[in-house]
Amino acid sequence: MTDETAFTYRFEPGSKPGAPPLLLLHGTGGDENDLLPLGGMISPGSALLSPRGRVLEHGMPRFFRRLAEGVFDEDDVRKRALELGAFVADARQRRGIAQPVAVGFSNGANIAAALLLMKPDALAGAILLRAMVPLSDPPQAKLNGKPVLLLSGQADPIVPAHNSAKLATLLSDAGAHVDHKILPAGHQLSQADVMLARDWIGGVD
Ligand code: MLT
Repeated sequence: MTDETAFTYRFEPGSKPGAPPLLLLHGTGGDENDLLPLGGMISPGSALLSPRGRVLEHGMPRFFRRLAEGVFDEDDVRKRALELGAFVADARQRRGIAQPVAVGFSNGANIAAALLLMKPDALAGAILLRAMVPLSDPPQAKLNGKPVLLLSGQADPIVPAHNSAKLATLLSDAGAHVDHKILPAGHQLSQADVMLARDWIGGVD
């Protein structure tokens, strides 16, 4: 069992009853501080749980190993997704928070997608910002209507359109309720991402 202390993380308690806790998952080279402001903008008053990825690539934290850009070490993806699931379970117990909605950007969105497929009970839903298919042969997950917002960039040089479309299909086929929007953006986030995520989470119980 993974001790939650194995992850460096930040936790901010919620201040608004009923607001879903958010699991914030940063992109390559980020850390546990990066997405706290985004979390606050998307869902003011939500508890924020924000771990730092435990894999280092040339000193840059990530959530799993990759062999090249867009080519993942899938054994590591599986292992790290389970490790993250154990962290979430421990943190929920210690902090007394409900199932979180993941908010992941780039590498953080990819591990969130892997977590949904490997350990669906870890999350109430997910906002996946610039995500791609994390596993070529994922387990048969039962997502039972879990809400997923997938926001892709039309001109994203890292995530080809066919890849994000495939992820949307994969999650829908597993039973998730997927809302996939393609924005006039690249890999970086835009103001539209924040607005859409905020509106979407307002409709999630
Ligand atoms: C990944 O490695 O997860 C993706 O290529 C996104 C990135 O981190 O650049």
